[in-house]
Amino acid sequence: MDIKDVIEGSVNVKKYWLDKIPLELVEDIIDSGRYAVCADGEINWKVVIIVDDKLKDKISNCCMRQGWISKAPVILVLCSDIKHMEKYYGKKAEHYGRHNTLAAAENMRIAATSLGVSTCWVNFFEEKSLRRVLKIPDSVTPEVVLTLGYSDLKTKMPNRTSLDKLVYFNEWDNTVFPEDFWPIGRKTEKIQEEIDKGFKKLREKAANLLKLKKKK
Ligand SMILES: Cc1cc2nc3c(=O)[nH]c(=O)nc-3n(C[C@H](O)[C@H](O)[C@H](O)COP(=O)(O)O)c2cc1C
Repeated sequence: MDIKDVIEGSVNVKKYWLDKIPLELVEDIIDSGRYAVCADGEINWKVVIIVDDKLKDKISNCCMRQGWISKAPVILVLCSDIKHMEKYYGKKAEHYGRHNTLAAAENMRIAATSLGVSTCWVNFFEEKSLRRVLKIPDSVTPEVVLTLGYSDLKTKMPNRTSLDKLVYFNEWDNTVFPEDFWPIGRKTEKIQEEIDKGFKKLREKAANLLKLKKKK
């Protein structure tokens, strides 16, 4: 599947079949989090995998009694280890730790979609009780609960704000596209021309190098 299709298909699904998800897939999904951006390459997040029914009920209660969560075959709780970050970032540890963890969670969500596994991002939870249930220490913050499961629900991507309402050029609030906004241009022919020119130069360079080699 094209990456754009995967991203656009990564909708939040809240109803799953009860089928088991193969361990290899769960591993793949979590592994994709390791390739997310992380401050200074220091991964500080940890994941608690929950499959036990009683525990899932408890997690669901921690999430303001959202009953559907306990029906997800697998629940991932992504946590940010602040202590680990404090060594490097002092007072900014929590901030950067959260960035790292959320970037990893988004990678996992997209990877899951590409593997045919539906997810839902859950952040409406009572932190204290989640800590208690999962025995999470004070130096670690639970950031996201990610549910995983198979689903045949044809959930549509909700309407998103259009791009023209989200982008400014050069400065805040400037929505007028500057015609001289090189190297981003409207005239794709012109861009193609420049690319072709570049390739022509490269080909010429390569041909000259080959000639030199032959002479030797
Ligand atoms: C920060 C955040 C927290 C969320 N928390 C919950 C939640 O606690 N329960 C839930 O059912 N969905 C939660 N969601 C999913 C939203 O309900 C979901 O984004 C919404 O249904 C819109 O769907 P979409 O994200 O696919 O556009 C959360 C999403 C985000 C980004």
